[in-house]
Amino acid sequence: MSSSKITVLVTGGNNGIGLAACQLFAAQPEYHTIMASRSLEKGQKSLASIQSSNPAGSISLVQLDITSDSSITAAVEGVKSKHGHLDVLINNAGICPMDFSRSILRDALETNAISPSVVTEAFAPLLLKSSSPRIIYVSSVLGSISHRGDLKNMAYNEAYKAYRISKAALNMVVACDAWEYREKAKVFAFCPGYVITDLAGQREAKERAGFAKSPEGSARGLLAIVQGKRDEENGQFLHDEKGGEVYPWWKPGEKLEWVDLGLEKSGENNDHSQVELVYRYYFPGEGSAHLLSSQETVQYWLGKPEF
Ligand SMILES: NC(=O)c1ccc[n+]([C@@H]2O[C@H](COP(=O)([O-])OP(=O)(O)OC[C@H]3O[C@@H](n4cnc5c(N)ncnc54)[C@H](OP(=O)(O)O)[C@@H]3O)[C@@H](O)[C@H]2O)c1
Repeated sequence: MSSSKITVLVTGGNNGIGLAACQLFAAQPEYHTIMASRSLEKGQKSLASIQSSNPAGSISLVQLDITSDSSITAAVEGVKSKHGHLDVLINNAGICPMDFSRSILRDALETNAISPSVVTEAFAPLLLKSSSPRIIYVSSVLGSISHRGDLKNMAYNEAYKAYRISKAALNMVVACDAWEYREKAKVFAFCPGYVITDLAGQREAKERAGFAKSPEGSARGLLAIVQGKRDEENGQFLHDEKGGEVYPWWKPGEKLEWVDLGLEKSGENNDHSQVELVYRYYFPGEGSAHLLSSQETVQYWLGKPEF
């Protein structure tokens, strides 16, 4: 069916960034997109919405719960029998718990680090049949240990502890796979940016923020990697912001410095769905506070303070 097409499988393809990626890949005539969804019902709904736009490429659906070995085995068998190989695996499915406990951390590690690693292992025989295999892991800047200590990072004063730990573990998966497949496949970590999706129940807060990206923007970043436009950055932690650079995973020998920003959120509501994007920063060593507008805050986060 799609033997002459580039086959791309997207985990968590039924929603958010995964869905936008499936939509964009399906719009390219040279691709066959495989939307992997843990819920067939949700997947069928999302598939129908893409098919209703008469995409130039082709698209199909496979059931895949990345935390279930039997589901992974069945998905690999399904792709093998229909396509015989896989060109691109996008490990996108993920969760973002906001709290922290042993079981929450376990779940985060299971979904965000262990399962993508196992999924790649399972699809590796099909990927290695491709003439140009690519493996992309959708990570997050929150998994960069360097950025945990960077006070200019937009999430400096947010804990996200279980999520950060799980994405840092995922980044090591990427570094290990980049070594393991160094002669055979291109391997990337990709941070999609701060994107309006259902992740962590933050859709409304992100919409209110006014500067969060659309999932379509992240999908374009993924397409650029699949098209080979970022091949020189193979094995690195790519992101989409500021013209597309790479993030540091961890700078060897670097000492992290924690600075108390004395940050106050104007809404004083810390349930993360109600974050008010007006902040008061107390710069260390400067006696006064400066109330930042949302726009100034963004400039500050982007490292371009103009105040
Ligand atoms: N949004 C952002 O700002 C942002 C920033 C940095 C990184 N990311 C990363 O981007 C990726 C996609 O997130 P998103 O923002 O698009 O979130 P989302 O809208 O919540 O989508 C997450 C997707 O992952 C799927 N999923 C979760 N657990 C799964 C499992 N065990 N098996 C299979 N699928 C599973 C979900 O399926 P169900 O529909 O069945 O739940 C859903 O399709 C994640 O890895 C996330 O960490 C997002």
